[in-house]
Amino acid sequence: MATATAPGAVGELIRQRKLFIDGEFVDAQSGKTFGVINPGTGAEMCRVAEADKADIDAATKAARRAFESGPYPKMSNRDRGRMLSRIAALIMENREELARLESLDNGKPIGETMNVDIPASAATFEYYAGWADKLEGSVIPVDGNNLNYTRLEPVGVVGQIIPWNFPLLMLAWKIAPAICGGNTIVMKPAEQTPLSALRFAELCAEAGVPPGVVNIVPGFGETAGAAISGHPDIDKVAFTGEWKTGQIIMRAAAGTLKRISLELGGKSPNIVFDDADIPSAIAGAMGGIFFNAGEVCCAGSRLFVQSGIHKEFVQEFAHQANSIKVGDPLDETTQQGAQVSKEQFEKILGYIDIGKNEDKAELACGGERVGDTGYFIRPTIFDGVTNDMRIAREEIFGPVVSAIDFADEEAVIAEGNKTMYGLAAGVWTKDIKKAHRVAHGLRAGTVWINTYNAFDAASPFGGFKYSGFGRENGKAALELYTQVKSIWVNMD
Ligand code: NAI
Ligand code: MG
Repeated sequence: MATATAPGAVGELIRQRKLFIDGEFVDAQSGKTFGVINPGTGAEMCRVAEADKADIDAATKAARRAFESGPYPKMSNRDRGRMLSRIAALIMENREELARLESLDNGKPIGETMNVDIPASAATFEYYAGWADKLEGSVIPVDGNNLNYTRLEPVGVVGQIIPWNFPLLMLAWKIAPAICGGNTIVMKPAEQTPLSALRFAELCAEAGVPPGVVNIVPGFGETAGAAISGHPDIDKVAFTGEWKTGQIIMRAAAGTLKRISLELGGKSPNIVFDDADIPSAIAGAMGGIFFNAGEVCCAGSRLFVQSGIHKEFVQEFAHQANSIKVGDPLDETTQQGAQVSKEQFEKILGYIDIGKNEDKAELACGGERVGDTGYFIRPTIFDGVTNDMRIAREEIFGPVVSAIDFADEEAVIAEGNKTMYGLAAGVWTKDIKKAHRVAHGLRAGTVWINTYNAFDAASPFGGFKYSGFGRENGKAALELYTQVKSIWVNMD
């Protein structure tokens, strides 16, 4: 298998570097481009057209036109479903290419892009393909001699702004339900990872998606992203990323009363009771924080371990964390790849320093970079952490976990909830009653019992508190992309 540094392989793999607007690949109107970095090496792999306001305007016009005229609004729901199925099939046909592109662009291991990111993206399209012809309204018994029924209609042109941690999967979570509901789309991938989205644009054309239905406009947040969230002709904006950016988007959307849905970060408690099955709980603690090098919004970054087992648990956890193979994202045996960017790499190392400077926290393993090129960080565990420390309060978004001691159930529910966030949580115990009590007590959008990071296109995902609002995946996401129309008929 080629390595991340082989230049020939990279050149061949990157087929598209332009904006995708109205079914065509075009340069930015300004002519500007930006560099795309391979985080495994730190080197620039290519330059991609940089959208700003003028391009967002053009994409929005195309999306509006496609929403109102041409083949798309006349397409039956079942045909929209068939289109989604074709996209799903094309993703799987191009699985290996997409996986390599994603690993190069994001730095995540090829084993994960092949077996998680790409198949899960296809499954999301498959899932919403099945919903398209099941978007039923209802007939409502009302007073008087009236027939009243409802229809689920599309919201219109939707703007979607996604992050870099699961580039194709985040795109799928947003585009699949939007098409299912009959909307048209202006999608801005993250500036760190535009490549799989551009390849996806080609697949849309191949799947027969009419021009203007899906527009892909890579660019920066403050320019292209801001143009989307404030655009007078965009009806809704869906965003995943940092909570502070969520606030900016909410304010910008207020000007034109756009609907918004926000999936923001987390500082999720992963709670291990004395009576848990210890080997599975250790595996869950590992996957909970080190999956995707910790660049996961629902990462189990606060590991609560009960006093009776705390010491031995953290010892074994650190032992296993030390054996994680960190390295070349394109090597099939790699377990943890590179952090996405220099900026993110430095942010994580900065938090590691903050942890080292906490008197009571002690480093159980890791705490440094790996090698001297690329953005690799050793899996890092701090023990003796308390909830008031910065490393327990702020989202680090890297392979850094804070182990916290707790005495009993009541205390850990209170401490688990002592966070601004509420995205996810984990509970490890053999006591089924306690498991459910704790799951009900935690203020989080997802709670995993004796597992962590379980996902399915059919199951809703989203946050409480500063982790945002609106639910992606499942039937719930259809509420984001449809609106109810009530129709009255006088039967007298
Ligand atoms: P970010 O929230 O700034 O970026 C996410 C997306 O929003 C990107 O497409 C970006 O271009 C866009 N964006 C940025 N500023 C914008 C603006 N003013 N208007 C419209 N769109 C805008 O996140 P960033 O800076 O990449 O990462 C910072 C931190 O955010 C991370 O270290 C992590 O803690 C958190 N984060 C959380 C994610 C999650 O899944 N919840 C994903 C990515 C980052
Ligand atoms: Mg930012």
